Amino acid sequence: MDFLKPSRYVPMNRRRRIYEGKAKILYEGPEPGTLIQHFKDDATAFNNKKHAVIDGKGVLNNRISEYIFTQLNQLGVPTHFVRRLNMREQLIREVEIIPLEVVVRNVAAGSLSTRLGIPEGQQLPRSIIEFYYKNDELNDPMVSEEHITAFGWASPQDLDDIMALAIRVNDFLSGLFLGVGIRLVDFKIEFGRLFEGDMMRIVLADEISPDSCRLWDNASGDKLDKDRFRRDMGGMLEAYQEVARRLGILNDNSSSQPSGPVPVN
Ligand code: TMP
Repeated sequence: MDFLKPSRYVPMNRRRRIYEGKAKILYEGPEPGTLIQHFKDDATAFNNKKHAVIDGKGVLNNRISEYIFTQLNQLGVPTHFVRRLNMREQLIREVEIIPLEVVVRNVAAGSLSTRLGIPEGQQLPRSIIEFYYKNDELNDPMVSEEHITAFGWASPQDLDDIMALAIRVNDFLSGLFLGVGIRLVDFKIEFGRLFEGDMMRIVLADEISPDSCRLWDNASGDKLDKDRFRRDMGGMLEAYQEVARRLGILNDNSSSQPSGPVPVN
């Protein structure tokens, strides 16, 4: 397939911007059916009420997400990811994003703890999948399978595929992080429809990074994720560097360099 070959050079200023979100930009890709996903340094929380630019965050998320999506592809979990292009960008397949944020929880935290009064850190009796309707004006409200199928955001078959994939992603990520001393508390993923001829497949899209996961150090309980920003704890970049370092993506000494990450090729 042509788009799997190295892309031809397209000058940055001539690329067509397809979509700009809070943390990423999507550009037209080098071949039909491809896009370029660009990771910005912007950090936002509470639907953009809180915003900061964290130098180097985009580079780290690009690398961490590449690492995870590559392994998921190898395990047979279909994803939109093709390959990383440079420090901030990756080539992806164009998909039709399903307007749902799919949250998988293993341990009580965040909005689950607030909503149901379950103390943060309590292991859940089993992994729980939740759905939120992706709509900033409405603040991404939680929805049920009934809403999703009644309003046609996804079919019952799509939802079966989404839940099966979400469980596989959770199993993989839980093991991956446990192996480097990190407890995977919860995470958010998104899915898209990939059209190939008259076939359609549901594939994992967007990103998986410390922006979209809760990651707690197993021994100390330290937060190694975006809650450091949401809760004004400081040390966000250092925490993301620590995750990358443990996954073997950064040089061992890079976490002590305040100037930013030093990716290894
Ligand atoms: P929550 O406890 O705030 O509902 O978050 C659950 C998980 O989803 C947590 O890992 C953070 C992630 N998340 C996002 O990636 N984007 C969002 O907009 C929200 C609200 C949560």
